[in-house]
Amino acid sequence: MCGIIGYVGNKNVINILIDGLKSLEYRGYDSAGIAYRTCNRIEIIKASGKIKSLEGKLKKDVYGNIGIGHTRWATHGKPDEKNCHPHRQGKFTIVHNGIIENYESLKRLLIKNGYKFKSETDSEVIAALLDKLYKEKPDILKVLVQIKNLLVGSYALGILCDDIPNTLYAIRKDSPLIVGLSEKENFIASDVPAILKYTDKYIIIKSNEIIEINEKVNIYDDKLEKINKEILTFEGNITQAEKNGYDHFMLKEIHEEPEAIKNTIKPFLKYGLDSLIENMPIFEKYANIIIVGCGSAYHAGLIGKNLIEKYANIRSDVYIASEFRHQKVFTDENTLVILISQSGETADTLACLRKANELGLDTLAIVNVIGSSLAREASKTIYINAGPEISVATTKAYLAQIAILSLIALTIGNTRNLISDKKALEIIASFEDVPFILETLINEDYKGIAKTIYRKDNCFYIGRGVDYAISLEGALKLKEIAYITSIAYPAGELKHGTISLIDKGTNVIAVVTDKNIAEKTINNIKEVKARGAFITLITTDKLDEDFEWADNKIIIPNSNDFTNPIIASIPIQLIGYECAKLRGCDIDKPRNLAKSVTVE
Ligand code: AGP
Ligand code: GLU
Repeated sequence: MCGIIGYVGNKNVINILIDGLKSLEYRGYDSAGIAYRTCNRIEIIKASGKIKSLEGKLKKDVYGNIGIGHTRWATHGKPDEKNCHPHRQGKFTIVHNGIIENYESLKRLLIKNGYKFKSETDSEVIAALLDKLYKEKPDILKVLVQIKNLLVGSYALGILCDDIPNTLYAIRKDSPLIVGLSEKENFIASDVPAILKYTDKYIIIKSNEIIEINEKVNIYDDKLEKINKEILTFEGNITQAEKNGYDHFMLKEIHEEPEAIKNTIKPFLKYGLDSLIENMPIFEKYANIIIVGCGSAYHAGLIGKNLIEKYANIRSDVYIASEFRHQKVFTDENTLVILISQSGETADTLACLRKANELGLDTLAIVNVIGSSLAREASKTIYINAGPEISVATTKAYLAQIAILSLIALTIGNTRNLISDKKALEIIASFEDVPFILETLINEDYKGIAKTIYRKDNCFYIGRGVDYAISLEGALKLKEIAYITSIAYPAGELKHGTISLIDKGTNVIAVVTDKNIAEKTINNIKEVKARGAFITLITTDKLDEDFEWADNKIIIPNSNDFTNPIIASIPIQLIGYECAKLRGCDIDKPRNLAKSVTVE
């Protein structure tokens, strides 16, 4: 789950490593370290806490032109200095992203061979194993082939060997890795933003490849035959990966939502219905759909289910990836499995994709990160085009995921003659209005509302149907960034037990956008109001009530079932953001979390 960076070139490696780590910090930030070659030896500097603490420990006037760096999200061993990467054993210094599942047995073997371990990590074993194999056969490339057969688990590794001072090595399995290419300098990194300051040219590395980098880049297959790889150019620009004057990446990314949605829908709606049908996969044969994701991606899936079932009349079941992968599933050749993921690297979602592939099912990945594992391994991929998302709490990617799922429901509904062409064109037109509506809503003031609720440590989000799905996301936002214990509950279910938690002043945020079930939800809101709850209502201007009983009111413009969930997500995100700000939380890097969850 961490971020790794490596550099070989003619610039001072220290600044490049630190810059790279800062842009990878969203992947993990409980400790950080770098290793670089200077005066013919390897210097290692580590610090617990964020990159800033590491910067504070750097010596002045040091110079090197090869090195590796790591920002950690601990999986094995506390996030303290001794467990911090890089790890060094014998002639090898490494940084590791992932988990070595068989590290205990390897460690026992290495201890028998005289190795002493300084950390509690699974990663240090890799350095010792490399050293042992290299002592037996000092041919680094062969050692890398060999170690790939011995390590069980996931890894992206940056490797320095004392005997080969100007060369950096890298291998990966299941954890992401790219190689950045520039004039007389080359990079490895977990993600493209880490190299953008220096180059926009990169190569995506596959699991069976071995990387050797000095002023040249050599990539070998597992038989050590050299291979040529496609060089990609990053299409966005570097400011997309920077804060651009906003206090937080989260706020910046919320402000990017109108643009993100434009980019998401553009390829599908450019020429109205024709481009939609042309650019969407063919869904004709599917009699049921399984949707899989984690966290917000799962919540987006729930919105998709509501729309697909209602408008395309196809049974859709939504699963949390970490559950689905271990569960018995009922499928046939007419089942489509849709996997949703911003990063495209989430370990549980990836495992579900592999399970579906093994079952011979058709798979469709809805992904943001281009070339990510999910995108590569699914039978079909739709890119949501939301642009780089840095804040741990997802915002624009979640909105873009909902937009794609809505367009899928529209496509299937239309091709099955359940939505007429005329109706479909109206819905398409409403999508074109969404960016403007988002822009207006984003610029409204949510701080006033946040001030009335942020002090309490508990909160309920309630809603029915699609509004319950939206509530789940609202509650997750309050939990993950504001550390408020917020429970999303189906409004009608409260009276079966949970309502006993409602007391004078309990915060209840109610989402009521679906007109068909609004009346029933409003009755449930009044039930909690009667018990003293403090009500914040998010509803549309279509419901003609004055809601005088609500303590806070957020009225969003009513669009239609396909676009309302996108629009209603703005207040829930900004309530989360403003509450977190008032509570003084570290919004972009909430405690215990990381952006891309590449561990199971
Ligand atoms: C949302 O704000 C979260 N940080 C988290 O739930 C996230 O959506 C989840 O981990 C899935 O990530 P993915 O989309 O990259 O697969
Ligand atoms: N498993 C390693 C550790 O706990 C690497 C974790 C990571 O990917 O950050 O140090």
